Amino acid sequence: MSNIKKFRVISYKKGHEALEIQNLSLKFGNMTILDNLNLKLNSGQILGLLGPNGVGKTTIFNLIIGLIKPNSGSIKINSQIVNQFPIYERALRFRIGFVPQSGGFFHDLTVYENFKAVSEINIKDKNLREEKISSLISKFELSNFKNIKANLLSGGQKKKLVIALALISDPKILLLDEPFAALDVMTIKMLQSIIIDLQSTKGISIILCDHQARDLLNCVDSAAIISNGKVIASGTPSNLTQNIVAKNAYFGDSFKLI
Ligand SMILES: Nc1ncnc2c1ncn2[C@@H]1O[C@H](COP(=O)(O)OP(=O)(O)O)[C@@H](O)[C@H]1O
Ligand SMILES: [Mg+2]
Repeated sequence: MSNIKKFRVISYKKGHEALEIQNLSLKFGNMTILDNLNLKLNSGQILGLLGPNGVGKTTIFNLIIGLIKPNSGSIKINSQIVNQFPIYERALRFRIGFVPQSGGFFHDLTVYENFKAVSEINIKDKNLREEKISSLISKFELSNFKNIKANLLSGGQKKKLVIALALISDPKILLLDEPFAALDVMTIKMLQSIIIDLQSTKGISIILCDHQARDLLNCVDSAAIISNGKVIASGTPSNLTQNIVAKNAYFGDSFKLI
């Protein structure tokens, strides 16, 4: 697959962090999942998280959105520690959107009813609500499926729906958990374009994770590799794939970007 990201932002001014995770540790029972993990997402950046299944990628997202609490460490959004804020405040006040790996929509409601249900929580004014729904349905090319039950959509259409639903509250930070899993090549390409478009037209800062490197590296500015509860290597895709630590722990010898 060709490289879909046409330019990469390599350096950011200090103080432009949208999200900063410092010394985050988490145990489930006596199993250490995260061990003093540090991670930084710059404003307007697309950051990829790579690591094998079970390494803790979804757990990191769950900690950021507030679904679970760390044993120690801090999560800062726009320089403010948010550890004490519940899920709904992180979503509405700190403007975090989350696209889970599976689900994330009402199966038995139509596409339109899904938009209506989610937007009624977020947007009080009925006209504004309808405006927002129409613009998202059109942007994500879901008009033809408006009155179809969401459960009947294809995998790619479902993913578009869940991303569009996450955009109803105008997030500043969007977390995408394995967005390309179980999708065909063309659908992955379409989603990569959507993700890059959210960065370039809306300035949304994005973290996406995957356990497969190539599709992820094709659409991020930089990426971090998680191993044994820590970030062991990070950088632009071309730097990262040359990084000896990253090669030894994750890519192996024969990995090529394209
Ligand atoms: N609620 C939980 N209770 C106990 N163990 C969990 C829980 N959630 C995840 N885990 C374990 O934590 C580890 C990391 O899981 P996860 O974050 O889902 O990994 P990834 O998303 O990288 O595949 C796994 O070993 C998983 O079994
Ligand atoms: Mg996961």
